Amino acid sequence: MMNTNYRLVFLGPPGAGKGTQAARITEALAIPHIATGDLFRENVKGATPVGLEVKAFMDRGELVPDRIVIRMVRERLARPDAQKGFLLDGYPRSVPQADALEADLAASKTPLDVVFYMTAPDTLIVERLSGRRVCPSCGRTYHVANIPPRKAGVCDGCGGALVQRDDDKPETVKKRLAVYRDQTEALVARYRKSGLLVDLDGAKEVEPLAREILDVLKKLSSRRTA
Ligand code: AP5
Repeated sequence: MMNTNYRLVFLGPPGAGKGTQAARITEALAIPHIATGDLFRENVKGATPVGLEVKAFMDRGELVPDRIVIRMVRERLARPDAQKGFLLDGYPRSVPQADALEADLAASKTPLDVVFYMTAPDTLIVERLSGRRVCPSCGRTYHVANIPPRKAGVCDGCGGALVQRDDDKPETVKKRLAVYRDQTEALVARYRKSGLLVDLDGAKEVEPLAREILDVLKKLSSRRTA
């Protein structure tokens, strides 16, 4: 049987499809999907102290300060459901975040298994993000043309009204891409050097790409048990 207790990271530019794939993979493996962007959006919606602090950064398409993100992820990874594996979606996104994660996982002797690096051309990213619609109630993600809901504007899962994310406006998308290149892309070389990186073509269709990811994990699982 396939071992499902993986510690995974999804790295890549905005709109590459990290969240879409992460939802499928975490469901298949029954591990928590920890998306820092989702955690921040929940905090903004609930007007918590963290939400009030991070909103302006998110609206501008900038990274939230490391001290806030690192603390939030530390707390989340300490929860019982993350002790047998997790998928970090959109974290780490800066060198200090990667350093903090590495130190914490080394201390608990639970290193990462794989960093999946998903890419897509900028034109595709802009097209995807401008067509993205999300359900604020249950978090499902759609695309008006590629992955439409059965009824336009209505979530298939919970019937909630779909909305466009504030930071999916073209000017903010441009800024998010620039921030990604400037602050996050350096992590690719770091994880490639450590042998953890697996490249994925985010331009592929959703289901074949999900199968490809699960195949990588199956191979890893059989190597572990061999
Ligand atoms: P976050 O929410 O993490 O946004 P992101 O990384 O910019 O990623 P996205 O959610 O935009 O894209 P995705 O790759 O998940 O694509 P998706 O699957 O939805 O972060 C938002 C903000 O929070 C940041 O700007 C920052 O301010 C803050 N933040 C978060 N984490 C932080 C951190 N660690 N440090 C500091 N600040 C942080 O797909 C996009 C669209 O394409 C969807 O419509 C989808 O339906 C469609 N699609 C997906 N895959 C396919 C496919 N294969 N074929 C066709 N369509 C597809």
